[in-house]
Amino acid sequence: MERQGCMHMRERLEHILKEVVEALAGVVSLRELEEVRLRFLGKKGEMTAVLRGMLSLSKEERPAIGQLVNETRAAIEGRFDAIEKALAAKALEESMAREALDITLPGKRAKKGHKHPITLAAEAISEVFLGMGYEIAEGPEIELDRFNFELLNIPKGHPARDTQASFFVNDNVVLRTHTSPVQVRTMLTRGLPIRIICPGRCYRVDEFDATHSPVFHQVEALVVDKGVTMGDLIGALQVFTTKIFGENTKIRLRPHHFQFTEPSAEVDMTCWECGGKGCRVCKFEGYVELLGAGMVHPNVLSMCGVDPEAYSGFAFGLGIERTAMCMFGISSMRSLYENDIRLLRQFN
Ligand code: FA5
Repeated sequence: MERQGCMHMRERLEHILKEVVEALAGVVSLRELEEVRLRFLGKKGEMTAVLRGMLSLSKEERPAIGQLVNETRAAIEGRFDAIEKALAAKALEESMAREALDITLPGKRAKKGHKHPITLAAEAISEVFLGMGYEIAEGPEIELDRFNFELLNIPKGHPARDTQASFFVNDNVVLRTHTSPVQVRTMLTRGLPIRIICPGRCYRVDEFDATHSPVFHQVEALVVDKGVTMGDLIGALQVFTTKIFGENTKIRLRPHHFQFTEPSAEVDMTCWECGGKGCRVCKFEGYVELLGAGMVHPNVLSMCGVDPEAYSGFAFGLGIERTAMCMFGISSMRSLYENDIRLLRQFN
């Protein structure tokens, strides 16, 4: 009987090995390999059943059969390992082939932004004045009524306020209607002499049309020193207009009224479209309006702590949208705010 049990075990082990070889021949994936491994080597697998069967063998038989079981198990594991390695290499090869980088395909061009024409104009203006020795000054867009109006010689209730319909936050705080409050802030905080420009955003309750927007930009300029005259103002503006709009650009000054300058002027330049001959853009005038300017009012100087007997100064406020329109030949201010990609793309 014992001899028979021993024979039976040998046959069973040989049979298992044969079955393993056959099962492995059909395996094409690591998942299938795992299934076969469980079938033969798992807790409920055939080799475990053989080990359990050894309990029925005699003491004498066990060592030989035990050795045979170990050899068979090692042979089975060796086959599993070899197939596992081959399958893993095949999977890696396939994934590399699938994910291979084809460097001959055309690339995707990354979309790149560029500067808005208003920014381009502001930078061009700033560059000209920086070249003339001006510094850049800054001020807040949410401004005190005191700086936006009162210290500019426009007290509460004065009719001059009506020319700049304003967004008020409360009685004393306003979205600045022009960059002129930076004049006040500069005179109150910087020592003399002063030579600054301030590019920045302004707000007015203005209807959106071809020449107005409720949000717009200005560049303020302020020069305060001993002996500054209207001639210095005209000289600075002449340099600025020829640098930005070309050598043949002429300017003209028309008398005007601003509460914070005396005398005051509106400054026009020869039309960028017709060069002064007269066309639809300049309404056949030959000139287009560019900015407001004048000599700083003595009241403003003294309210800001500057002695008007010893010092004088000029100031001007230039519309950046207007400058951009002239620089780039844009006929409506709306185009600058509509974000039409067909227009903006031209500034790339
Ligand atoms: C002023 O704002 C004065 N602070 C300018 C000034 C400064 C005068 C220093 C004297 C000394 P005015 O309201 O004219 O002035 O505006 C100046 C420029 O800002 C205009 O010529 C125009 O180009 C621009 N501007 C005014 N309102 C708007 C608006 N709603 N939309 C677009 N641009 C505007």
